[in-house]
Amino acid sequence: MKKNFTFIANWKMYLNFNEEIDLATSEYDNYIKLAKNTNSEIIICPSFLSLSNITQIFKTTEIETGAQNCSEHLKGSFTSQVSAESLNLIGSKFCIIGHSESRKYLHENENQIIGKLDMLIDNKISPILCIGENQEEHKKNETLKKLELQLKKLEESISNNANIREYIPIYIAYEPLWSIGTGNIPTQQHLENVFTWLFEKTQNINNNVEFKILYGGSVNAENTNFLKKIKHLDGFLIGKSSLDFQEFEKIVRLGSLS
Ligand code: 13P
Repeated sequence: MKKNFTFIANWKMYLNFNEEIDLATSEYDNYIKLAKNTNSEIIICPSFLSLSNITQIFKTTEIETGAQNCSEHLKGSFTSQVSAESLNLIGSKFCIIGHSESRKYLHENENQIIGKLDMLIDNKISPILCIGENQEEHKKNETLKKLELQLKKLEESISNNANIREYIPIYIAYEPLWSIGTGNIPTQQHLENVFTWLFEKTQNINNNVEFKILYGGSVNAENTNFLKKIKHLDGFLIGKSSLDFQEFEKIVRLGSLS
């Protein structure tokens, strides 16, 4: 059955290994009930170290897992990196790429990010590509210009990738940098503009590909009702609020109401 809405929990590096496993095991039944009762797609993205364990924990359930990054290389002398092939082998079906925190702290550029996207598609893993403008660009009204730039390589890559014909939905998460972790969210007008533009853009990229367009940045139980109303929105990418199961549950319940 087609899912109502997507909720991706990006646990970032907030929890240590034990805390991540504890959260997944102590709320195991609740995650499963939540996904079933709301007919939602729930994807948990823990840190690399616990990803395999947590994927195993939820193996026979509707709860999916995703990595927070991957290498743009196939394999070889790339100390510290993790290949898309390995993610596929442990059974994880999603991977966040181009997150603004990886762009900033790991100095990732557009070429590397699109290399990661190609690796993921080749390994049948859905990329969750993060895009968004910074505060300055936002003030100058340059959001769409920035998004256009960030999606340019995606368009080229998808039209050249033979494997894209297989069923691999691509997720695009609009995450304005000035909203992440600040408690500030964009106005309705801004979001309507961005999501209408993103919707039309993705419709024109490649007819054979299913795109989902998500919002991320300070999503919480208080602003879910407001955000949920944005036309063309398919789901949320949630950081801090996904660490507290009760808060996450509220977001999923509110967000999945039609
Ligand atoms: P917050 O929800 O903590 O603002 O983080 C958003 C985010 O970066 C999700 O990827």
